[in-house]
Amino acid sequence: MTGRHLLGIAELGAEGIAEMLRLADTFVEVGRRPIPRVPALRGKTVVSAFFEDSTRTRLSFETAAKRLSADVMTFTSSSSSLNKGESLRDTVRNIAAMGADAFVVRHSCAGTPLQVARWLAEEGGASVVNAGDGAHEHPTQALLDCYTVSRERRARFGAVPEGARALEGLHIAIVGDIRHSRVARSDVLAFSALGATVTLVAPPTLLPPSLEGWPVAVSHDIESVLPKCDVAYLLRLQNERMSEQFLPSVHEYTATYGLTASRARLLGPQALVMHPGPVRRGVELAAEVADSPSSVITTQVANGVAVRMAVLFHLLGQGAQVGA
Ligand code: NCD
Repeated sequence: MTGRHLLGIAELGAEGIAEMLRLADTFVEVGRRPIPRVPALRGKTVVSAFFEDSTRTRLSFETAAKRLSADVMTFTSSSSSLNKGESLRDTVRNIAAMGADAFVVRHSCAGTPLQVARWLAEEGGASVVNAGDGAHEHPTQALLDCYTVSRERRARFGAVPEGARALEGLHIAIVGDIRHSRVARSDVLAFSALGATVTLVAPPTLLPPSLEGWPVAVSHDIESVLPKCDVAYLLRLQNERMSEQFLPSVHEYTATYGLTASRARLLGPQALVMHPGPVRRGVELAAEVADSPSSVITTQVANGVAVRMAVLFHLLGQGAQVGA
């Protein structure tokens, strides 16, 4: 395959993740300027190709591309010729024909970004960034999560190692619908690559059918895990990816696994509460916990722009300077 891509976390490895976090630091600084824009990707075109609903990820990538001075082409499947029967392959070919340097692809089917990268190899070799494919991977979410843990621990508690090393030895609990979560897959790979220990907390029906090869511990008892964790990472019940009934009721899920206000008191004073969004307040976590000082959910969103600038710059900015 020609072209440079980010399809999953494994291809980056610990060193690649660390490099993205270092680059993101530069772009956070750009975001604070009165005119938060650098010329690094001037003349490049980034296609935002979202075949599935998204608010923050799409806006985050588009903002990142614009802050790097790239041109942005926005494609939304609901208003496209896919509805007139055009195949995905022809859609990709036609967009590529207009001249695109990178495709940011979200799709409900696992493997679509890889397939798009293969097709693009025949059409001039544009780069592909996976912005979430089915229940497979969401690598930029994992990068922004690592970045947020690292920066917040440093900002709040001072004396921790910098950058990617800040995650070494941390205990991270990922709670909720792991089975349908691409965020969980990418986060497990990234957190463990950086030396954190991950515990998955979920009812048996919301775990993947096999966890063979996953570097994780599993618990069904959130209350025993919370006092020991440095990060409680909550996930939404992803009903749109559920093909059958996985839970007796949402109410029962909240009663057994929800991060309620009383359970949140079991967390240590340095613990961070995270969530990739969209949050269903009162289901996976209580509104008052989402708004508490330990919650860094909005910071995750803010950091997402700098991290996606880092990824786009890494893929498209060969030879360019970050910019004055
Ligand atoms: C997640 C996603 O779409 O995978 N959200 C996101 O990208 N921030 C998680 C979810 O949908 O629950």
